[in-house]
This record gives sequence, C-alpha cells and structure tokens, in this order.
Amino acid sequence: MLTNQQIRDVVQKYEDGEENILAILLKLQEASGQNYISEDCAVEVAKELNIPASKIYDLLTFHSMFSTKPRGKYIIEICKSAPCHVNKSREIVKMFENELGIKMGETTADKLFTLQFTSCIGACDIAPAAKIGEKVYGNLTKEDVKKIIQEYREGGK
Ligand code: FES
Repeated sequence: MLTNQQIRDVVQKYEDGEENILAILLKLQEASGQNYISEDCAVEVAKELNIPASKIYDLLTFHSMFSTKPRGKYIIEICKSAPCHVNKSREIVKMFENELGIKMGETTADKLFTLQFTSCIGACDIAPAAKIGEKVYGNLTKEDVKKIIQEYREGGK
C-alpha cells in the first residue's frame, strides 16, 4: 500500500500531470506491488491534480489495463477475440486454470498470478495467444503452460 507521500512523489514527477494521467496511474499501479489502484490512491491523485475523483474512476474503469482490486504480480492475459476463439482459446484457459488452481478473473493465494481475458494482442498467427507483461506466447501446449508457470515461479522473466 502506497503512502500519500509516495503517491504525491510519483504525481509530481510529471510536469503536466493531467496530460500524463494514464502514465501516472500506470506507474502507481506498478508501484502498488499488487497491480492495482486503490480508492485511497485514486482520491489522492485527484487531489494532487486538482481534478474530480470521478474522472480518475472513469479512466480506471474504461481502460482494461487498470484494476481497482489487488491482482497478482504477473497478469496472464488470454486473448478471447475471434481468431483465438476459433483456435480453441478455451483449451488454454483450461490449461492455465488447471495449472494454477484458479478460475479466470482470480488471483492465486500466493499473489503471484492473476488470470484475465484480453482482446486481440496482435498474435493471431500463433493463436490461441496469451500475454504476460510484454511477453507474448502462442501455440501453447499443456507442457508449455507448465514450463511458463514454473519459470515465473522461479523468479520471473
Ligand atoms: S485474436 Fe487473439 S491474438 Fe489476435
């Protein structure tokens, strides 16, 4: 949980805060350690930028990269757009769910992984595709999923 001072420090790093509001929120989300923006944090940012808190909430709900609930250190995003869907993205959903013991939208008890859907990540040629951070994975088998999870458990990439 970030202190108000830590939040202010991040906001003040940007000259024109309101222009850079998405960058500020992304930084704060990352700094939260749990990949989310808390209500207190949103209120503090609004105060610091002198804008209504509702504007921050609108952005947080509009952009799928943000969450207002704590998430895992690693967000596993599985594409649910049509090309992946017809290439059996449901099967990789099952593989990740089974490997992690959670359902889509949930976070593992050790707070390492969150499973969520995303729309096309531009990897349709290797559909069904998934993404963890900036890394994109495709043509996944059960063994691949096991290996990927193991690698992240051992310290990430
Ligand atoms: S539709 Fe899934 S990566 Fe494009």
